[in-house]
Amino acid sequence: MFLDRLKNFKSYKTETTPCRVKLSSNENPFDLPEWLKEKISEAVKNIPLNRYPDPTSQELKEVIADFYGVSPENLVLGNGSDELIHLLVTVVGQIDRPVMYPVPTFPMYQVSADILGRPKAEFLLDQNFQLDKREIDKALEKEPQLAFFASPNNPTGNSFDRDLILYTAERGIFTAVDEAYIHFSDKKDFLNEAVNSDRIVVIRTMSKIGLAGIRLGVLIANKDVASLLDRARQPFNITYPTQIIGKIVLTEGKEVIKNQIEKIVSERKRVMEQVQKIKGIKVYPSDANFFLIKVPDGETVHRMLIEEGVLVRNMSHLPMMENCLRVSIGKPEENDTFIKALKNVMEKI
Ligand SMILES: Cc1ncc(COP(=O)(O)O)c(C=O)c1O
Repeated sequence: MFLDRLKNFKSYKTETTPCRVKLSSNENPFDLPEWLKEKISEAVKNIPLNRYPDPTSQELKEVIADFYGVSPENLVLGNGSDELIHLLVTVVGQIDRPVMYPVPTFPMYQVSADILGRPKAEFLLDQNFQLDKREIDKALEKEPQLAFFASPNNPTGNSFDRDLILYTAERGIFTAVDEAYIHFSDKKDFLNEAVNSDRIVVIRTMSKIGLAGIRLGVLIANKDVASLLDRARQPFNITYPTQIIGKIVLTEGKEVIKNQIEKIVSERKRVMEQVQKIKGIKVYPSDANFFLIKVPDGETVHRMLIEEGVLVRNMSHLPMMENCLRVSIGKPEENDTFIKALKNVMEKI
């Protein structure tokens, strides 16, 4: 009885079918080098696990601030950016005023709003998956107080029109720009706006650049906004191991991450060019560590790729995503396996 409203609730689902090549979760495919893992092992061994971690994550914040070129006071850390999204949906504005976001996009904005029973002002992207001012205006009529823009967007891969994001903020909406994939893009970010405005914040994550396993998300805001949001955070949300590993990787491993990102971006170009040559497939442009393709029959191609040992994400269930599959960039050899498998599948269907 008490939990009845959860009976029809759709939680966030991820692809879990075991496969030789996993290109379904937009992770960094490269692990850390042995020398860095050794340093991490040594440091983790010395953690007093009987003790609570630093509730302010001060040392880690200093490292992250340096990594992004902002101050530690601009930061709120989360157990993944999912937690920060939920924090915003929980505390920004009145709970009976809608959260607006375009569709298709990252599902957690919707999931968080649904958990809290908060109204949603969803609006459609245009045919090129770009923001459409008329659709934004329609959503604004519902008087939302919080907006999410994932740019580059997941699952479409493209970046959104800056001016329309700013337009939304100028209309008095607290605007969160989710830059989970910004490291793979050459478009301008919103860090400057976030640090200097009381209405725009940026969300980042370490998950896409190599640390999905430690769950570390970062919200960047002006100091007053960050300090207020931080009051509503769970006190020990960043675990001791996460604080220690984050500090090591974002200092000593900085070059490693930079090189891995470069490799992913160059692989993206190579793989997309190869896939473009396969007949019957439409490839959409991407600023992220994944790209979207449209195939003749999404369900069948997805299933047949699994039979070939390759897991990609079937997006067909989302609006505007009929027969669309999302493919993460893997290691060069994984990408080759995917290209070969896709060619085989397309020859058979
Ligand atoms: C746009 C976007 N934001 C946030 C996240 C969640 O990241 P995290 O692992 O930090 O919770 C993802 C993960 O796929 C994403 O695509």
